[in-house]
Amino acid sequence: MSKPRLVLTRRLPDPVEREMASHFALLSNQDDQLLSSAEIVARAQAHHADGLQITLTDRLDAAAIAALPDTVKIISTYSVGTNHIDLEAARHRSIAVAFTPLAVTEATADVALFLLLAACRRAHEFQMQLRQGRWGAWNAWENLGWDPGGQILGLVGLGRIGQAVARRARAFGMEIHYHQRRRADQAAELGAVYHASLESLFRVSRFVSLHTPSTPQTLGFINANSLSWLPQGAIFINTARGDQVNDSDLIGALQHGRVAAAGLDVFANEPSFDRRYLDLPNAYLLPHIGTSTEQTRARMGRDSIANLCAFFAGAPMPWPA
Ligand code: DGY
Repeated sequence: MSKPRLVLTRRLPDPVEREMASHFALLSNQDDQLLSSAEIVARAQAHHADGLQITLTDRLDAAAIAALPDTVKIISTYSVGTNHIDLEAARHRSIAVAFTPLAVTEATADVALFLLLAACRRAHEFQMQLRQGRWGAWNAWENLGWDPGGQILGLVGLGRIGQAVARRARAFGMEIHYHQRRRADQAAELGAVYHASLESLFRVSRFVSLHTPSTPQTLGFINANSLSWLPQGAIFINTARGDQVNDSDLIGALQHGRVAAAGLDVFANEPSFDRRYLDLPNAYLLPHIGTSTEQTRARMGRDSIANLCAFFAGAPMPWPA
């Protein structure tokens, strides 16, 4: 039987592409150019594709999905986020969608904790001090950060990544509180305290870490109003999606010290971002590296392949979106 035909929209790690090529007839993108929706549709047409293997940089809105050729039966995304795909439009055309939720959990939680600890110990400020030759003799009163232990970490979302952050934070002595629509089954084993409202969570949280998907409802919900609920000098971490934050409002809060520091791995319009963050010594900025480890990217590849193989074998996919 001939291999299913797949359009691969971005370059994936070599071992992942080799494995994919052993299962599927690939039209790959070795130059790794960002493709517009129209270019993805054109490639799907030219390749008579049975499926698309995409990443979070590929936007498939309702119009793009409507324009896909009838041959396309599955969209597999190499990500936990699915906000770049119009799921309703895919359902409407009976196109299956698969994602890689398990693979990304631990690496993303590591980055959230890394940003939180870096912010607590003002690592960026002090590294600049050293690099710029401003390091004087040790003294007892300067360069003071804050202990994470004994503080409340407020998690917005206690899904897989939120739980993985909670496990790590508990090892550092933090107390876990969380908010989401419903109580989480796993909250008891994490000793996590539920808040029915975001305001109630923010009012008690010295640290806040965001673990909510990007949806029309979460757009810009971190804004001047919600930030005003935080205790003075709180620390804000975002490894989820950038469009949930109103950048001007967060920058204002960082400038005035209402928020002591922010750790951001994600931005609304990546790879561009609000350049005003660069002037803030209390902004810890990373270029969306939450899942950027060899092991995690390999696992995201294995999970994508498992989804695709199951789909084309007519079996249930391990991770349908
Ligand atoms: C995801 O999987 O959605 C992550 O944001 C990728 O780093």
